[in-house]
Amino acid sequence: MRKKFILYVLCIICFLLMISFALIAYAKTCSTAINAKNYKAEMQMLNDFIDKEQQVRKADKTLIVYYSYTDDTRKLANMIHEKIGGDILEIQPLELYPDDYNAAYAQGRKEVEERIKPQLNNNFKDISEYGTIYLGSPIWFGTIAPPVASFLYGQSLAGKTIIPFCTYDGLGAGQSIEEIAHLSPNARVTEGFAVKRTEVEKSREALAKWLKRID
Ligand SMILES: Cc1cc2nc3c(=O)[nH]c(=O)nc-3n(C[C@H](O)[C@H](O)[C@H](O)COP(=O)(O)O)c2cc1C
Repeated sequence: MRKKFILYVLCIICFLLMISFALIAYAKTCSTAINAKNYKAEMQMLNDFIDKEQQVRKADKTLIVYYSYTDDTRKLANMIHEKIGGDILEIQPLELYPDDYNAAYAQGRKEVEERIKPQLNNNFKDISEYGTIYLGSPIWFGTIAPPVASFLYGQSLAGKTIIPFCTYDGLGAGQSIEEIAHLSPNARVTEGFAVKRTEVEKSREALAKWLKRID
């Protein structure tokens, strides 16, 4: 009888031990699953953070982009580049304007008057990387040159900052800033810098002051 009782108690103890082991094993599995889940979520958050950080860093990049027919705006663009660095890119029409100034003048007049946007030969695929764009143009008939209008027309510049600069031969920046704002309605267009073509070299001090002002 006593033996039977001991056997009975032992059985109960064994049963309880088995249940305890089973419960511990189950708890461990659950916690590993939860840890794995947390780890995955944390990694996802970290990756999202890195992606966002990279996007912000990319968007901070600066591009100087310009068109120039007789080199004045190119000179000014290079002076800006010397001062601020970043990337620099020339806008090139697919078909160059005639070397003959009068012929180019006549073609330019027609394009401005008829709002023609000449085709460009550049590939501006990577423009999305830039948050700030210094945009240079000669003044043609009181506004930006048509290749610059083509550039703006072909880009999504929403959310970017456009900083206009131009060279002219008598009548200043004209309607160029309004035209830039019109062609890129969701961009922020800042105060521009306009220099008479004969003053480009002498404009270094004024340029430095303007760059400081818009910074
Ligand atoms: C087709 C054409 C139209 C122009 N129209 C104007 C104008 O309306 N107002 C002005 O001040 N200068 C005008 N100019 C002069 C240029 O703006 C000036 O020479 C400028 O510095 C040229 O820059 P670039 O050498 O980068 O082409 C015109 C020049 C050309 C070729």
